[in-house]
Amino acid sequence: MKITPINQHFVADISDISLNAITDSEFAQLYSTWLTFGVLRVRQQTMTEDLLQTFSARFGPLEEIPMGRMPTADRAKIKNRYVTQLSNIIKDGKPIGGLGNAEASWHSDMTYVEVPPPASILLCIETPATGGDTYFSDQHAALNAIPSTLKARLRKLTIKHNAAHTSIGKLRPGYEPFDDPREAPGAIHPIIQAHPETGAECLYLGRREWAYIPGLSLQESETLLDEIWSYAARPDHVWQQQWQPFDLIIWDNRRVLHRRDDFDETARRLMKRCQVLSREAPPKNA
Ligand code: SIN
Repeated sequence: MKITPINQHFVADISDISLNAITDSEFAQLYSTWLTFGVLRVRQQTMTEDLLQTFSARFGPLEEIPMGRMPTADRAKIKNRYVTQLSNIIKDGKPIGGLGNAEASWHSDMTYVEVPPPASILLCIETPATGGDTYFSDQHAALNAIPSTLKARLRKLTIKHNAAHTSIGKLRPGYEPFDDPREAPGAIHPIIQAHPETGAECLYLGRREWAYIPGLSLQESETLLDEIWSYAARPDHVWQQQWQPFDLIIWDNRRVLHRRDDFDETARRLMKRCQVLSREAPPKNA
């Protein structure tokens, strides 16, 4: 396995490996490299859904795709319950995946739950000629850029992470609309967190939209959030991925934020994603 850093500190290309046939010792090396960098890209991985699911499960338990409101007939057709499709492709009048062709704003995945997923794994199947790029921002570097007086203040504060909207701003099924971020449902996490596996401190912001800092007035919270976010995605710690089919990216949600460009609605984009849950996460219905 060859490891080539492609961004100063937090992105590496992994080559000379097939993830379909990765050995235990190769996986151990891949895992520690992932912890070191935060984002790994592995090109030319022609994986079936089965193999993507098998590879992803080496990182931990996987999140099941939401089937709550899915008709029973559609549920029966699902072969791999842990592989989500992100796509704008319409088949038989229905979208085959989530997010469509919309822009997704900066976020890390599912920070609105008590124990958010540590890893996300995204495989590109089809990509438009232009647009639909995905960007990653290193939150360890972002924290280091923050002046010490502000950092000291942030150490005492938390953020409430909104569960009601998706990264493209759509209300999730089962939630009522609201305007005031203080009313947003969702988990509360410290703004600065030590990475549970590496100990490195990172900013942990989730998403800007509908975020709220408990204990502050709404105006104070908005002003402080704007100030913190001005450090979160500075160009010197952002990396842009221009997808090629069968690129696979593994990112550490505890270390990086990501966002996605929109793209032409007439172009086709299809990605397959597995979300790795924390081994400490409580069971779904607990
Ligand atoms: C996301 O996870 O926000 C979408 C990533 C992508 O489609 O590139």
